[in-house]
Amino acid sequence: MTWAVIALVGSMLATTATAAVKKEKKDKQPQPAVEFSLPSKETDAEKAERMQWWTDARFGMFIHWGLYAMPARHEWVKHFENIPDEKYQKYFEHFNPDLFDPHEWARQAKEAGMKYVVLTSKHHEGFCLWDSKYTDYKAPNTPAKRDLLKEYVDAFREEGLHIGFYYSLIDWHHPDYIYDGNHPCTPAGKTVEEMNQGRDMARYRQYMKDQVTELLTNYGKIDIIWFDFSYPGKGHEDWDSEGLLKLVRSLQPDIIVDNRLDLNDVWGGWDIQTPEQVKVDKCVEWHGKKVHWETCQTFSGSWGYHRDETSWKSPAQLIELLIETVSKGGNLLLNVGPTARGEFDGRATERLKAMGKWMHANGRSIYECTEAPEGFEAPDNSVLTYNPKTNVLYIHLLDYPLWKVKASFMDKVDYAQFLHDASEIKFNNEGFEVPVLKPDVEIPVIEVFLKK
Ligand code: GLC
Repeated sequence: MTWAVIALVGSMLATTATAAVKKEKKDKQPQPAVEFSLPSKETDAEKAERMQWWTDARFGMFIHWGLYAMPARHEWVKHFENIPDEKYQKYFEHFNPDLFDPHEWARQAKEAGMKYVVLTSKHHEGFCLWDSKYTDYKAPNTPAKRDLLKEYVDAFREEGLHIGFYYSLIDWHHPDYIYDGNHPCTPAGKTVEEMNQGRDMARYRQYMKDQVTELLTNYGKIDIIWFDFSYPGKGHEDWDSEGLLKLVRSLQPDIIVDNRLDLNDVWGGWDIQTPEQVKVDKCVEWHGKKVHWETCQTFSGSWGYHRDETSWKSPAQLIELLIETVSKGGNLLLNVGPTARGEFDGRATERLKAMGKWMHANGRSIYECTEAPEGFEAPDNSVLTYNPKTNVLYIHLLDYPLWKVKASFMDKVDYAQFLHDASEIKFNNEGFEVPVLKPDVEIPVIEVFLKK
């Protein structure tokens, strides 16, 4: 994804700029109830405690849902096809998700084994799913005629999932958002300068604060806010990231915040690193220190519903992605793009079911798990995870072997079994002895109880 790369480069470039937070600017910010200063005063142990539920959860659902579900050609369609506001308006006028049943969404997420969810309250197109006082460009003014975000929050909360909001910093619809290359190109005969006449980012900054205040006061406890994104051309000064972050922390002190506000170099300027659509080589580090991280990934090549896109990952690839992520100490946020009728894409439902089937039997190797302790080398074609609380190691057999799984840590093994059915796996000092016939499990797991 071009823009994902740009976002990444942007956040890297901007790191030095954020280190010095200007005094004058600080004074202009609203005074939050809770004092938050950058860098954060929170200790590593305090942060680990605040993040505990999230670290234990390991697996969440991302949902990209907005007007772009109607063209069904990627959530960047307005930009890619240079669609001006007047022409994009038809989607607003026809947005009628008559089959929207958030309880069904929540049920599918829960059955897949996901423990939290993040929905696009507003994506780059600027359309808001909730009843915001600060814009008319919102779901209640479409044929949907109601606050869809509220129904989402209630349904997922009822199923026991932690609730997150994605909020786009970019806004292609707001009249004050400074026009740039991320917008659809300027209408015929108009220059960027002309498009920017009368636009005022200060008003847009206030709009964001007002909206974030709504989101974080009207829907009860919100567990995650996912801002997206900064890039060369727009960064922390344009958003007033420090002010936004202070506001967020004052309204929801325990909330988890992603790292796309362009405050990457400030400890406390983010809670999680968010590598997108990549497989990381090792636990993500920040200045040489391991940090909380979450990779967000799509089932196919688009975040929003894309009717004609066919590069869908297989269940085995998706399960492997989850295992791989946990084996490096990270979380997986896997995205669904519901249709404009309000239902999950059937292709997503199918894959969620397959993941749920695997998680039902093997979730113990995912929840509360992380990297294997130092010195434990993964046997051939396998991936290790480890639960530090129980001192149990998990060997995920990606490529099912014939008879033997050779391992270099056999002196540390106390007992071993298949995870899915708790059937004993015999072992000797060379390795484990598995049945020739592969069990009926997408990726079988050996559960290894280590000696105390
Ligand atoms: C990228 C895309 C955006 C998507 C996001 C998810 O930044 O621009 O459409 O929402 O990734 O991480």
